[in-house]
Amino acid sequence: MKTNQVTVRIPATTANLGPGYDCIGMALDWWNEISIKVSDRPNVSIIGEGSSDLSLTEDNLVYRSARELLKRVKEDSQSLDITCHNTIPLARGLGSSAAAIVGGIFAANAVCGDLLDQDELLDLAVEIEGHCDNVAPALLGGCQIVVKDGEKVFCSAVNLANDIDVIIFVPDQPMSTKEGRALLPKEISRDDAVYNIGRFGMLVNSLSSGNLESLSISTRDRLHQPYREKIFPAMKYIIRSANNAGAIGAFLSGGGSSVTAFATSRTMTIGYEMADVADKIGIPGALKITKPSMLGSHVVINDKELKQ
Ligand code: HSE
Repeated sequence: MKTNQVTVRIPATTANLGPGYDCIGMALDWWNEISIKVSDRPNVSIIGEGSSDLSLTEDNLVYRSARELLKRVKEDSQSLDITCHNTIPLARGLGSSAAAIVGGIFAANAVCGDLLDQDELLDLAVEIEGHCDNVAPALLGGCQIVVKDGEKVFCSAVNLANDIDVIIFVPDQPMSTKEGRALLPKEISRDDAVYNIGRFGMLVNSLSSGNLESLSISTRDRLHQPYREKIFPAMKYIIRSANNAGAIGAFLSGGGSSVTAFATSRTMTIGYEMADVADKIGIPGALKITKPSMLGSHVVINDKELKQ
């Protein structure tokens, strides 16, 4: 071990961006903080989101992920004392489990003197999480296209040409990603494949060129949102109200239940309209107005962000 203690920050993420199911995610300026100390006996403390739901034993996801990293680098003879300051709500499609996994392995790697490089960290995070679209931006920051080729994970960062606001309506009700994924058909029609491929290409091109007009159609989806509506019918009304109020695009965030809208103006109005329609159909929740974060996971020392 190179050091006894480290604190890291990990961003929330919004994934899929409409048509990019399991292939794209964006880091947000919204952070969890994890401190890891080498210790004689295991301990987990949680402050904030999940403090009354998450495990405080060695099966805690941050703890397990950190241990997995230590095993990889053959430094697993000691226990860890972990403190999580969580602000990312759980089971709302905002990458809370990706933040736990990435935070655990990133902090443990820092404690060991960065024995694994970024590619190895990403492969390990994907191995633990199962899909890549939240863990890649949580680790690397920015907007990341991510694909798996065999066991290897490849990322490509999307340049964001414009300064966009990210408006997120976070329902009080959680939504199970597992349940949502179970609703998706094993096969899709050629029409639906063409619908999504075209929109995904256009979405990436819009974000990187700054020609944002096409986002209103290129954030539409036929691969997962229509099926997930079965367990969250309100999503289409919240998406529609965001678009009607002036959003440049809106979609279900990851596996839900949050809905994300992008905007270059009228930000507060869009947020108000999303929350208002949700309230009228019996879906109370909270609004978060944020921005994409180019910074991914990083070590914090004395409140100064020292490295990525
Ligand atoms: N791409 C994943 C899904 C994201 O849609 O299930 C989960 O947050």
